[in-house]
Amino acid sequence: MEFKKVIGDRRTIRFFDPNRPVEPEKIQIMLEAANLSSRAVNADFAKAIVCLRDELPPDIVESLKTPTTTTQFDLAPVYIFWYGDTKFADGAQQRLKELVDLGALPVTHGWSHTYVDEVAYAQVIAPMSQIEMANMWAISVETGLAINQAILAGVDEGLGVGLHAFNTEVAKKALNVPDTWAPMWVLFVGYPAEDRLGGGARPRRPLSNSYYRGSYGNPWEDVPGVKEKLREAGMLQDGMDADKRHAEVRALADRFGLPT
Ligand SMILES: Cc1cc2nc3c(=O)[nH]c(=O)nc-3n(C[C@H](O)[C@H](O)[C@H](O)COP(=O)(O)O)c2cc1C
Repeated sequence: MEFKKVIGDRRTIRFFDPNRPVEPEKIQIMLEAANLSSRAVNADFAKAIVCLRDELPPDIVESLKTPTTTTQFDLAPVYIFWYGDTKFADGAQQRLKELVDLGALPVTHGWSHTYVDEVAYAQVIAPMSQIEMANMWAISVETGLAINQAILAGVDEGLGVGLHAFNTEVAKKALNVPDTWAPMWVLFVGYPAEDRLGGGARPRRPLSNSYYRGSYGNPWEDVPGVKEKLREAGMLQDGMDADKRHAEVRALADRFGLPT
């Protein structure tokens, strides 16, 4: 699929075909995409545990639910539990030196083995990794980058995906999660039982609501023609028709025996 169309087609899918398995190679493609995400100090911040719903005991599946994540656990055949590694600074010097040796971190920008040891590591990475708030901030951003690449790769493979909260205490015990991993989100994966496009694009505010030019208070002004181009490419799509969507949800509720 074209990249812009992948972005345009992504939706949080909440109704999966519970009986249609996902090809393991497609899950690997998602993990490979995550593994290519940009990352500070070339560290493996993002950690993930892939679980098949039907391989988990039903009582565990039930107890992984949260107030905002319910039926998805029953319908999605695959769960990817995402974590952030609080030990990302371990081995940072070695990884940075590898990048220096390869020229990815070029001498023109001040990089050398000494600079890694005395400046980048000693003055930036090591102190930062000691501050819990900074640590969590870095881990969260990094994991988000990786998750999003996995999400888009999944959409490109024709899968439905949805990122959600989960009961992290239950998962920690059930999945043998290391103490040094900070829980992030669970990514549900499967083939959509609902319309692949979830009934249409979700409402979004104009760019000028959030993005600025030069300084805050000077909202970004749309460049003429861009929105039309993105519509043609499938990145910007029609919004939802509420009546149609509610009818679809009622039909899905009948199919899966869900409340309405
Ligand atoms: C980090 C993150 C956490 C989310 N957690 C939940 C959740 O716990 N329950 C839920 O129903 N949706 C959750 N969502 C989905 C959002 O509600 C969804 O993104 C929103 O409805 C916009 O729809 P879209 O993703 O189809 O554009 C989450 C999304 C993100 C990005």
